[in-house]
Amino acid sequence: MELREELRHSILTMLKAKEDPLDGFYAAEDTKEAILAVVISGRHLMLEGPPGTGKTTLAKILASRLEVMQVVEGCRYNCDPEFPQCPDCLNQRNGPGVVTIPGNERFVRVQGSPELMPEDMLGDIDPVIAMQCGIHDQRAFTPGRIHRAHRKILFIDELNRIPERTQNTLIQVLEEGITTIAGFDITIPVDTIVIATQNPEEFAGVDRISETLGDRFERIQIGYPTVEQEVTILKRYARKYRGVSFDDKLLQTVVRISQSTRQTEDISRPASVRASIATFEQAQAIAQLRGRNSVNQEDIEKAAVISLQGRAEVSPGSSYYENPAVLFRQIVEKSLPGE
Ligand SMILES: Nc1ncnc2c1ncn2[C@@H]1O[C@H](COP(=O)(O)OP(=O)(O)OP(=O)(O)O)[C@@H](O)[C@H]1O
Ligand SMILES: [Mg+2]
Ligand SMILES: [Zn+2]
Repeated sequence: MELREELRHSILTMLKAKEDPLDGFYAAEDTKEAILAVVISGRHLMLEGPPGTGKTTLAKILASRLEVMQVVEGCRYNCDPEFPQCPDCLNQRNGPGVVTIPGNERFVRVQGSPELMPEDMLGDIDPVIAMQCGIHDQRAFTPGRIHRAHRKILFIDELNRIPERTQNTLIQVLEEGITTIAGFDITIPVDTIVIATQNPEEFAGVDRISETLGDRFERIQIGYPTVEQEVTILKRYARKYRGVSFDDKLLQTVVRISQSTRQTEDISRPASVRASIATFEQAQAIAQLRGRNSVNQEDIEKAAVISLQGRAEVSPGSSYYENPAVLFRQIVEKSLPGE
């Protein structure tokens, strides 16, 4: 079965059983429905949103919905033992062994950067092996990330930071599900679904995605979670220290502090969900340091200032630009519950 068929099938099966295929990813129902529509229709997904809004988490959840798969042992292209297709398997260079790969490992991650070259994606000739076996021997070809993503989800973080030449190596795969290996005149099937991310333009240092490529993705905007969602995220993903209790109302305070940095013009880089997680964990550490077994408001104030100072950035136009600590303290105080 094609990867997109597999994913569609497992998602529809979960929906029929009234389970949430995106369980663990918190966003508006509308957004979740749009994501499922893209995935069920077998299209490639582009997630756009500020840092720390669950884009990587979402891609991993989708991979974990895939079933285990069987792969020819040692095959560099993840061939299906029932239907081997790569040059190595077709020339009987791999043994009869079979390995089983769990769904959540059917995930190849590429970190977008200006240094990523087309060869990284499409593979390259290894000169040492080429000397030994001859330049036309396919063993001399080292597969790229795209080949390694055969029968897996190809997750490309910050696609927009990749040089255009390298971006364009994806076009043939997205369009036809194959790659052509230069110099060998052979095509290798690559059955993958690409999930790419892009940070919005206000986050410095971004380039654009070429129009030809952008048109091959469905774009979904991911925003910040609501207070309730962010509290749930903390409960689910943040570390809890043994023997330290954290009142539900104080959890909301942690989240409100981060949220208020997202709503003021004084701040150009607001606190992400990661900042909330850091505040939550550090508040517990501070309570322990101070010899208590429950977190109180002062612990949160202290933890939040630490976590904001390392992360949030004050806008250059703000009157607090020279004095971020003063602004952070104000934000924290305003977010504390009233009397
Ligand atoms: N909407 C969300 N649903 C579930 N978890 C979330 C969500 N947003 C943030 N988180 C949590 O915050 C942390 C960061 O999330 P994640 O790495 O998925 O974000 P990201 O969007 O990939 O960030 P970046 O743009 O920096 O790569 C994780 O611990 C994750 O569990
Ligand atoms: Mg990420
Ligand atoms: Zn093979």
